Amino acid sequence: MLSSMEGVISLGVGEPDFVTPWHIREAAIYSVEKGYTMYTSNYGLLQLRQELAQYLELHYGLSYHPEHEILITVGTSEGLDLALRAILNPGDEVIIPDPCYVAYPPDIILAGGVPISIPTYKENNFVIKASDIESRITKRTKAILIGYPTNPTGAVMPREELNEIAMLAQQYNLLVISDEIYARLTYGIEHTCFASLTGMKEQTILLGGFSKAYAMTGWRIGYIAANCQLIEAMTKIHQYTMLCAPIMAQMAAIEALKNGDSDIGRMTQEYDRRRRLMVKRLNDIGLSCFEPKGAFYAFPSIEITGMSSEEFAEKLLLEEKVAAVPGSAFGQCGEGFLRCCYATSLSNIEEALKRMGRFVKKYG
Ligand SMILES: Cc1ncc(COP(=O)(O)O)c(C=O)c1O
Repeated sequence: MLSSMEGVISLGVGEPDFVTPWHIREAAIYSVEKGYTMYTSNYGLLQLRQELAQYLELHYGLSYHPEHEILITVGTSEGLDLALRAILNPGDEVIIPDPCYVAYPPDIILAGGVPISIPTYKENNFVIKASDIESRITKRTKAILIGYPTNPTGAVMPREELNEIAMLAQQYNLLVISDEIYARLTYGIEHTCFASLTGMKEQTILLGGFSKAYAMTGWRIGYIAANCQLIEAMTKIHQYTMLCAPIMAQMAAIEALKNGDSDIGRMTQEYDRRRRLMVKRLNDIGLSCFEPKGAFYAFPSIEITGMSSEEFAEKLLLEEKVAAVPGSAFGQCGEGFLRCCYATSLSNIEEALKRMGRFVKKYG
């Protein structure tokens, strides 16, 4: 619908509106000029894995062996698929929050597993509770798959809650797949890496990527850090499906890790301004919105209109030319909400919220 319309302001797509910083693009261009156009090791360039090992040490005090405990993937998406395919036997259960990133349930099913959704609520800031997880653990539970800061709500897990999940994982011997693609996009809060919690490095499959923090969605580059047995199992699947991640993207990722920190600072500062504007304006027009502390999504309630989230999103697009994603796309608990991505200009946010205000007045 969107592609056939003109004048639409999109709060729909979950990607940065910034282009990849120039020095990162330049590094990739130079590498091509120098003739780096071949396959790399299945694991990825050693230099990139070394940079990542240093990065994880610096930020989280984690010590991963660059040769055996890090695998370079084609985006976090591939990392997620590899993790699930490597660990699941048919019928194994994976616990996920509801709402969650759209790919989690289908990826689990494609890997032969069964997604077990745990409801999360606005009243709890969309945080998954260890006690709720425990009540759904069965003999078939293999892993807990979480991703904080989270898509679609922007929620961040407090360290204490993460610690409780870590204790549960140890008690029931479960793996935790931690999708930390939004780790660098937090506002006023330090990110806690799940693998850095006491005793969790061995039991965590840490998924990371460059798409969001470095504005590199099109490069398709990410990584997995985990213990060497798991990395070996995932590499088997990776080598027979992808072979390796593109060398140009790996070269760009090396430059991002080496010199990209100030870009992240600049972009997060801008996202933060947009975040504060969007949350304030949503609440002003009557769409109550809890304060997201990470990623670049706001998740307001649209209940006052009495519409389903799908109906709301469709009507909003047709009548006011604002695109946003119905909360129900992310699970049953997303019903009654709308995902609005604020990775767009302040003037777009202002205009979109003006149109949404008019819409809510009409139907609220
Ligand atoms: C939570 C989450 N995980 C993974 C991905 C996929 O990221 P990548 O571009 O690294 O494959 C996304 C993209 O929107 C996401 O929101």
